Amino acid sequence: MSAPDPQNQPTKPITKADVVFTIATPRQRILSWELNGASWAPPMTIAQYVGRETALSETALSADGGTTYYVLHPKDDPETIVSACEVTAKRALVVRDAGDVEEVTAYAIASVFTNPVFRELGMASFMLRQVQQAVDGKGAEFGALYSDIGREYYTRLGWKDFRSPQVLLALADGLVLPKLSAGGGDGVKFLTADEVASLCVEDTALVQKRFATAAVSSNSNNDNARSKHITFLPTQEQMAWHFTRDAYVCKTLLGREVINRGAKTEDGSAWIYWDHDLREKKLKVLRIVTREELEADKEKTKAAIKKLLFAALSEAKDWGLPKVLLWEPNADVVDIATEFWSELGPNLSVTFEEREDGSIPSLRWKGGESLEGVVWEMNDYYAWC
Ligand SMILES: CC(C)(COP(=O)(O)OP(=O)(O)OC[C@H]1O[C@@H](n2cnc3c(N)ncnc32)[C@H](O)[C@@H]1OP(=O)(O)O)[C@@H](O)C(=O)NCCC(=O)NCCS
Repeated sequence: MSAPDPQNQPTKPITKADVVFTIATPRQRILSWELNGASWAPPMTIAQYVGRETALSETALSADGGTTYYVLHPKDDPETIVSACEVTAKRALVVRDAGDVEEVTAYAIASVFTNPVFRELGMASFMLRQVQQAVDGKGAEFGALYSDIGREYYTRLGWKDFRSPQVLLALADGLVLPKLSAGGGDGVKFLTADEVASLCVEDTALVQKRFATAAVSSNSNNDNARSKHITFLPTQEQMAWHFTRDAYVCKTLLGREVINRGAKTEDGSAWIYWDHDLREKKLKVLRIVTREELEADKEKTKAAIKKLLFAALSEAKDWGLPKVLLWEPNADVVDIATEFWSELGPNLSVTFEEREDGSIPSLRWKGGESLEGVVWEMNDYYAWC
């Protein structure tokens, strides 16, 4: 006789008093992935998905306690997962009242899941409250999560939802793009994962240096002076986590290695990184970086970003991905997207929108401190997990 399918078991009455909140054993991690794969594995099989999650757990970001895997299980049954989630420690910056830049440990919560048998019984809320206590106890300054279940649920647990603007560039079959190769006159070179790693070291140092100035200028551009600015650092460990995920899925589903992780202008003044999301069929821009010297010249900055976005369109086309997605487009990206639309339409359509159905950025401060006046800078896709 085969084991009963947990999804087909009747709902059991269960309360907080019946469950244990704990860090998952290796076996409980696998059980959690086998369970939550129902939501997140397709188009991979559950076994392939468990393979990806295992690979992610071994990345520099997640290994050696970088990611903590929590579960709730019935007191007398450690093999039945009631709820699960993952908490990854991340490096972040804070500027308070336009003061000095402080580097802090922050965290991100992901893969919040309740076994369908135990839903609507307050189990995920109970687990998240326990997680909040655990991260506060470790001294983490603040945490992020990206809600796929709207804006209300996490708000009730003390999280604050943020705006989620994005731009989508949709490629039609007839779209013809200029050929992009270094030295070919277009001035762009594709980047390997190793090249991105060293650029991340440089980018992280640049962000540390420039963050205070950025926070002050953002304050002065805003009538309603803000008190705290935060950002997650675009570290090489963070980017390698995305690349591991991307490489695993592309290899598993298409048998294809990912070579181009991004692109940079030939003069090295700006660069872009991306992720091939085969599930959502989008090339997702993780981050665009421009050097300070370049930013002094607005026209040159725009020209550089335009080349990088062309490179992203070209990569999307090469992989048969019909859309390029970019979170939090700045004024330059908005202008360039609009130019693309007038130059390439009707073979390229451009949509500016707010995400309401997925990945709604949310923050919670240590001890449930108010988030009134907190500005989340560089809320780009790289910080998502
Ligand atoms: C979302 C989820 C974790 C909630 O688990 P749970 O243990 O049932 O949660 P709780 O009992 O604490 O809370 C239930 C509440 O969540 C709400 N909720 C569940 N799924 C929701 C959804 N897709 N959109 C909006 N709200 C949702 C319920 O409506 C209920 O609201 P109520 O308290 O006003 O009645 C669970 O439904 C699940 O695993 N879903 C699939 C994976 C998923 O989407 N995870 C969230 C990723 S951000």
